[in-house]
Amino acid sequence: MPVRGRRYSDDPLPYFPPPAYTPRKRGRPSNNPIAIFRRNRTLILVGCFVLLVLWRLTRARNASPPPPKLTGAAAMAKADWSKYAYSLYATDTATLCHAVMVFEALQRLGSKAERVLFYPRHWDTLVSSATDRDSQLLVMARRDYKVVLMPTKIMNVFGYRTPDKPKKTWDESVSKLFAFTLTHFDRVIHLDSDLTLLQNIDELFFLPQATVAMPPAYWQAETPHPLTSLLMVVEPSMREFNALKAQIDAGAEQETVEARKYDMELLNERYGQTALTIPQRPYALLTGEFRNHNHTAYLGSEEMEWDAESIIKEAKLVHFSDWPMPKPWVLWSAEGLAEMQPDCGGSHEGSCAERRIWKQLYDGFREKRKDVCKLLSLPAPDWFELTGKIKEGEMHSDPGQQGKIKGEAESIGHIDTVTRGHTS
Ligand SMILES: *[C@@H]1O[C@H](CO)[C@@H](O)[C@H](O)[C@H]1NC(C)=O
Repeated sequence: MPVRGRRYSDDPLPYFPPPAYTPRKRGRPSNNPIAIFRRNRTLILVGCFVLLVLWRLTRARNASPPPPKLTGAAAMAKADWSKYAYSLYATDTATLCHAVMVFEALQRLGSKAERVLFYPRHWDTLVSSATDRDSQLLVMARRDYKVVLMPTKIMNVFGYRTPDKPKKTWDESVSKLFAFTLTHFDRVIHLDSDLTLLQNIDELFFLPQATVAMPPAYWQAETPHPLTSLLMVVEPSMREFNALKAQIDAGAEQETVEARKYDMELLNERYGQTALTIPQRPYALLTGEFRNHNHTAYLGSEEMEWDAESIIKEAKLVHFSDWPMPKPWVLWSAEGLAEMQPDCGGSHEGSCAERRIWKQLYDGFREKRKDVCKLLSLPAPDWFELTGKIKEGEMHSDPGQQGKIKGEAESIGHIDTVTRGHTS
């Protein structure tokens, strides 16, 4: 007796023609499960494959870290430069101008990465008059140096307030932490603006993986040296940013805040043990090194010979720091200069490589400031008053504090903010 009602009896498998010869059926499709399978075979197979891939991916993530990304020259050669950016911030006209000077250097030195500027959101890019320097500089940054403008509520730190110290002091240097928010990029290099970039440093984007990489504050007596935040290579991450922000909101010691080095303390606390160290030589040379007599810390070895000419030739970044000399946008007083300039081994006659280089670095900064921003230097403060205050302990002995001179720089001429005919 034939088995009736057997589901596949009408369409036995062995008689299936090979798929390539299956004529395309017209009309209403059959409800037969095999037919359904055949119609949707590709879809089902793709589905299974996707599930398998997803399963493998989850397992891979749980089991072992992803293979390391390429680093060094190999990575640089095939880099997608839209994944890398320099990040600077401005809080006033001076820092804006100096940030633009760094962007100018990046462009001149052939940097291939993107450029981002954080600035107070109440500024605008509508040039209202010939002396509206902030707007002019923002427009110029965007137009001439391809800077992406990021209006932001600038972060600051209020120190702990006590009844005897009710005054608000703040430290806006924590604004550099905005670099962490640029998660659109694989890596971001933050740069302070009181420095001169002498060579392209794009290779730092291809350091081995590390949440943060910074050079050591080699000039500090404390060993191992803490890390300095004047140059930071970060892997952007909102998780890191929020953790740091939470610290900031919790407040900081008055003294640290006044010395404007809360950012450094914060970063050393969190990354001191895990950060990748960028060698200070040639990435973080201080101008003050040319006034020093003992160069062991910078050179990294007792045996190494100091040669000012070759040191400046190899240096890629020089940071202005000659406390209590003011920063380079403030002029020198004759007394201050006589006391502070490199002493050429005690000879006040003639000159030496150290003194020549040191002066050139300052002159170079002032020239660029005039060329790029059309801003003159601030007048020199009274040297005796300045150093007198230091002796009375009114100023902190931190390089970040130096040059906090009150006053407005005089503008000269005006910056052409009319977009020129050419497209770039
Ligand atoms: C120079 O400085 C280093 C530390 O950076 C120190 O170990 C060394 O003794 C110093 N040399 C002289 C001659 O003072």
